[in-house]
Amino acid sequence: MRRVVAIANGKGGVGKTTLTAGLAGQLAAGGSRVLVVDTDPQANLARDLGYPSGDGGNLSLAITHGMPLEVERGVRDRLDVVPGGPALWDVPPAFTARGARGATLPGLKPALDKVRPEQKGSEKGDYDVVLIDTPPGEPILQELVFGAADFLIIPTRSDEASLDGLVVVAQRFAAARTVNPELTLLGVVLFGVRAGSTRMIGRVRTALEETLGDAAPVFPTSIRYLESAAVDMRSRGLLPHELTELHRSDTKKRLSRLREGAPAQTRDSLLSRNSSAEGLAADYAALADEVLAAMKARKGGAKRRLEVAV
Ligand SMILES: Nc1ncnc2c1ncn2[C@@H]1O[C@H](COP(=O)(O)OP(=O)(O)OP(=O)(O)O)[C@@H](O)[C@H]1O
Ligand SMILES: [Mg+2]
Repeated sequence: MRRVVAIANGKGGVGKTTLTAGLAGQLAAGGSRVLVVDTDPQANLARDLGYPSGDGGNLSLAITHGMPLEVERGVRDRLDVVPGGPALWDVPPAFTARGARGATLPGLKPALDKVRPEQKGSEKGDYDVVLIDTPPGEPILQELVFGAADFLIIPTRSDEASLDGLVVVAQRFAAARTVNPELTLLGVVLFGVRAGSTRMIGRVRTALEETLGDAAPVFPTSIRYLESAAVDMRSRGLLPHELTELHRSDTKKRLSRLREGAPAQTRDSLLSRNSSAEGLAADYAALADEVLAAMKARKGGAKRRLEVAV
């Protein structure tokens, strides 16, 4: 059964793209067939997953003219991508112009509905999860995504300023439910949490619950703050678990060279860097499990929806 998940927050730089890539990679590594759709004209997802960035023209035309989507196959095992890019800037004005004339445009949902993974031999079927990365602004693009999604995940930084972005996304979410009443808030992910900030996290969780009500669970696992790994991942197009593997093999090689006479502190820093990247990879693995469990729990049971006074 296909589940379409939007990753959105009205605020920029809160981890939407990093989280989309990390979750997608983890879910695919765990055996799910995953499609990632980048609806952001900035197209940062291309860096995080390490595929060549395009202009987003195909996705833009699929939304505005009903063109069939072109899928970048095999970006990882079981992981395909519909790339974003600057042509997506054309989408909001096209909607505004058509809206003024009372006409409608195809939108994202019909195009997505037609996309299937490569059918290999007897292996038929559909994607298990479709993850959609969204831009920070551009309400029209966000609404198109909400119209095509079953679930919403909201990442937020663990500081109080970031809560402003949540209110914006909550307002858009409430509006999107009039278009798509099936859209369900899966939960909020605390992103970039610094070690030792337990009290701060507690305050943020309380504020989130007050803003979003009990229909907005905060995932138990948060993503730890680890700038060195973040820089390495984006510059090399590596996912957290891939960075860990790289560090591991790198450390092995260098340790064997160190045994032949290099200074000892290099060895210590290598080991600590390695283990902190492992911690980050473990966060993504735990979060992916929680996301899968939350989707399963919501499938049949009573849907808890976001109820906020907006
Ligand atoms: N675990 C981490 N700890 C600290 N910083 C991180 C971590 N993971 C990613 N980052 C950094 O956080 C920044 C913002 O991440 P990201 O691009 O995912 O946010 P975004 O919400 O998609 O931004 P935008 O609104 O511009 O699309 C990036 O510079 C990224 O390298
Ligand atoms: Mg982004």
